[in-house]
Amino acid sequence: MTTTAAVNRLAYIGSVPGSKAADRDSDSWYTPQEYIEAARAAMGSIDLDPFSSVLANATVKAHQIFTIDDDSLSCDWFVKPGGACVWMNPPYSGSLVGKASDAFIRALDAGHIRRGVILVNNATDTKWFKKLRERCTAACFTDHRISFGSPDGKRVSGNTRGQCFLYFGDVEGARQFAANFNQFGWVVSSSWSF
Ligand SMILES: C[S@@+](CC[C@H](N)C(=O)[O-])C[C@H]1O[C@@H](n2cnc3c(N)ncnc32)[C@H](O)[C@@H]1O
Repeated sequence: MTTTAAVNRLAYIGSVPGSKAADRDSDSWYTPQEYIEAARAAMGSIDLDPFSSVLANATVKAHQIFTIDDDSLSCDWFVKPGGACVWMNPPYSGSLVGKASDAFIRALDAGHIRRGVILVNNATDTKWFKKLRERCTAACFTDHRISFGSPDGKRVSGNTRGQCFLYFGDVEGARQFAANFNQFGWVVSSSWSF
């Protein structure tokens, strides 16, 4: 029998047969420090984390955050002239990851993002992933499943999928992205052509 704890542990990246959406808390899994520092090194800074909380930002240390109360799906992502360096690990529940991807692309098109790193599941079979990978400059497909942090500070295992980091921005940033994310998996450039 599947326990509630097991459902919650697995919910981040997949569903458990027979579980109800209401059982799943896939919105509050935090990115471990090592990946945040790699993103900061790749971009030079983290100006904005559009899907965050005060607790999550103790690790991310973004200059500005949007929380669920701000609702970044409907607010303007302008932070600084010339565009911000944006870290995004969106909520994965329901259709939120697709809506978050659309919000990121809108902000990119509006010139509000100079550089960006997104962390999502390696879901190459989804429409939202296709939209992101068509716009990114480089990507890193992890060679492991990330043990995310829970709000009580513990690392959680039990992921059923690998993840992908997508980099958006200039080529110099992409070089930095490759140098810092090589340690986590397979880095590819979207400028490869055949
Ligand atoms: C997967 S966690 C990631 C937290 C942090 N960005 C990180 O990388 O560790 C997603 C966060 O987004 C917040 N969130 C959910 N919906 C939101 C919304 N509409 N606007 C802003 N934040 C939201 C959740 O409360 C949660 O803290």
